[in-house]
Amino acid sequence: MNILEIQDLKINLGTHDILHGISLEVPERSIIAVLGANGAGKTTLMRAISGIYRPSHGKVFFDGQDITGLPSHKVVAHGILQTPEGRQIFSNMTVRENLLVGGGPYGLAEAEHVLDLFPVIGQRYRQLAGSLSGGEQQMLCIGRALMRKPRILLMDEPSLGLAPKVVAEIFHLVEQIRTQGLTVLLVEQNARAALRIADYAAVIDGGHITLEGPAAQIAADPRIVEAYLGGHTH
Ligand SMILES: Nc1ncnc2c1ncn2[C@@H]1O[C@H](COP(=O)(O)OP(=O)(O)OP(=O)(O)O)[C@@H](O)[C@H]1O
Ligand SMILES: [Mg+2]
Repeated sequence: MNILEIQDLKINLGTHDILHGISLEVPERSIIAVLGANGAGKTTLMRAISGIYRPSHGKVFFDGQDITGLPSHKVVAHGILQTPEGRQIFSNMTVRENLLVGGGPYGLAEAEHVLDLFPVIGQRYRQLAGSLSGGEQQMLCIGRALMRKPRILLMDEPSLGLAPKVVAEIFHLVEQIRTQGLTVLLVEQNARAALRIADYAAVIDGGHITLEGPAAQIAADPRIVEAYLGGHTH
């Protein structure tokens, strides 16, 4: 069953259209990658789903319910959580405070549960979030979203600025999270890493989906190899 279904979504910001009719189906417990270069419209798509931007056309269905145009807090209440581009953690608060602020109605008990997944973050529980490494900050960002017991995570470029080894760790966590029943919509410029864990991928360019298919098929597509994978498949 599709937990999320996007139908012919158009977003107009200011004077022009940024998304020109995006359609995407996200089956429950899948990892779906949305790949694209700078300015392709990836973040705009995330924001349209999470209620930050209101579509000028099209529909978003979650679990069979029409959530098009709902304000962000209502979208969150459905269990749709975003890990934003650039992480947006609160640097001057501790790890603990970040989790509790992010948790809304959920408190310490949930924080402990989340920290089971992230022992590294647990060791830094009382430390200021701004003192964490980039990878640890990304884990905290994911942990903060998990505090709300989401059903789907919308992840906007979690690999940004991280070394390959750290990206592999983070993506391994994403796979683990999926085995616990979550669905993940993974926006990435790092196509190679994203395609390794994704079931299915869509490539977005200029606000259009230009290519989509099973991740293995996309990873082998000469156009993707050329444009995103540095000209060779390994
Ligand atoms: N609030 C806004 N008002 C007007 N134009 C915008 C706004 N936000 C984004 N855009 C434009 O929409 C296009 C898509 O931007 P978006 O941030 O969605 O791209 P992206 O794929 O996330 O890129 P990146 O990989 O750099 O994060 C860009 O041309 C951008 O300049
Ligand atoms: Mg972006």
